[in-house]
Amino acid sequence: MKHIDVKVLFENAEKYLNQSVTVCGWVRTWRDSKSIAFIELNDGTSLKNLQLIIEKDKIDESAYKPALVVGCALQVAGTFIPSERNGYELLLQSVTVLGGCPQDYPLQKKHHTLEFLRSIPHLRPRTKYFEAVFAVRNALSFAIHKYFNKHGYKYVHTPIITGSDCEGAGEMFRVTTHNWNDKYEKEQDYYADDFFGARAALTVSGQLEGEMAAMGLGKIYTFGPTFRAEHSNTTRHAAEFWHIEPEVCFCDLQDIIGIAEDFIKSIIKDVVATCPDEISYFNERVEKGLIEKLNKVTECEFGKITYTEAVEVLKKSGKQFKYPVEWGADLQTEHEKYLTEEYFKKPVFVTDYPADIKSFYMKQNPDGKTVAATDLLVPGIGEIIGCSEREADLEKLTAAMRKRNMPLDGYTEYIDTRKYGSVPHSGFGLGFERMLMYVTGVQNIRDTLLFPRTVGSL
Ligand code: 4AD
Ligand code: MG
Repeated sequence: MKHIDVKVLFENAEKYLNQSVTVCGWVRTWRDSKSIAFIELNDGTSLKNLQLIIEKDKIDESAYKPALVVGCALQVAGTFIPSERNGYELLLQSVTVLGGCPQDYPLQKKHHTLEFLRSIPHLRPRTKYFEAVFAVRNALSFAIHKYFNKHGYKYVHTPIITGSDCEGAGEMFRVTTHNWNDKYEKEQDYYADDFFGARAALTVSGQLEGEMAAMGLGKIYTFGPTFRAEHSNTTRHAAEFWHIEPEVCFCDLQDIIGIAEDFIKSIIKDVVATCPDEISYFNERVEKGLIEKLNKVTECEFGKITYTEAVEVLKKSGKQFKYPVEWGADLQTEHEKYLTEEYFKKPVFVTDYPADIKSFYMKQNPDGKTVAATDLLVPGIGEIIGCSEREADLEKLTAAMRKRNMPLDGYTEYIDTRKYGSVPHSGFGLGFERMLMYVTGVQNIRDTLLFPRTVGSL
């Protein structure tokens, strides 16, 4: 269909001024008087609507009348002219209704609650809020690829179906084509008859395969969906989320912290520069002060504190926490929020967590109690990055796996990387939706995904 994107029209207004153009889109609102009608048209390419003017005596009523319906899809031709109120508008010569829209169209009002919009995920991309979310989502993904590409990382695609549990939390969705039936006495026999001849699941992380790739390619990153069967019904947990996981050889914990900080700042700067309309919209409508926050983040030095020091800070805070603060216990959201929002008032890396609350692959510190791991906490969200130097020593790694009762024979290839030319290496995982929440101010992870998958909701 010959037509022009509204975004192209606005960005090249001088070129198209007083020209006749064809545009397509959906009617967001309309109003009319006796002789004239105004339609706000949106085609999804620009947050800004294009105002259409219909001079009723110039167009046959049977063409313009069906167009005066919220939600209906139009193809229109007209002259692109300057307008005092809107900058530019389109004075129509012809209207074609591509798709009519009956009165039960749910998006009749200008503003709907986010809860309501969550009940119609198939229609919410037609609202300004979600147009802005998905524009920034797109720009943020692109910014991430640009960053790694510029710095010489190879983008690798790790498997989605896997037999290993990277995080060891037992939060994996099973993949099977095989109904359980009681002819099997042992679980192993049942799995042996399944599609892969073994127990299979959706990956929680591409890290283990990423490490194997990095051990030959030097620097890699993954960017793909990962899956967690966590029963956490919160605003920050999704059962299916997108995960960015760089892995870097010849790199220790301090090096990877430096990379993570530079990466976060760079992608924020990129999105602020490429999505000015969307970021201004979020600044006005979603999080007051968003632009100032983002600018500060790109300029400040992120905080750093060890887990042990953080426990002291929390104990001395005088705050009444719901969960007690004890050395050895994992930090809860309330503790993370206090550290990043009240104590540091900026992003902070908490380092050197107790080994017992972290994963098997993390480098064991000389103290015998902690590991060279860090979480990056940010105000408003909490953890957005989980990061560590990896245990490169074969004996120490296998000892940590045995301690956790892991089946070593299921991880032969991973263990081989420590046997054959092992090197110091580090990596991290950034939750893409949490990062998107941080740059937009969106409060609920369900509003960052096209079709969110969360516990109890498919
Ligand atoms: O801290 P996590 O579990 O770390 C890993 O998976 C490591 N293998 C990463 C690595 O070193 N390569 O997860 C990393 C990040 C978290 O910090 C969080 O931002 C995000 O993934 N995340 C989730 N995001 C949305 N919903 C969930 N259920 C998430 N679980 C983790
Ligand atoms: Mg984590």
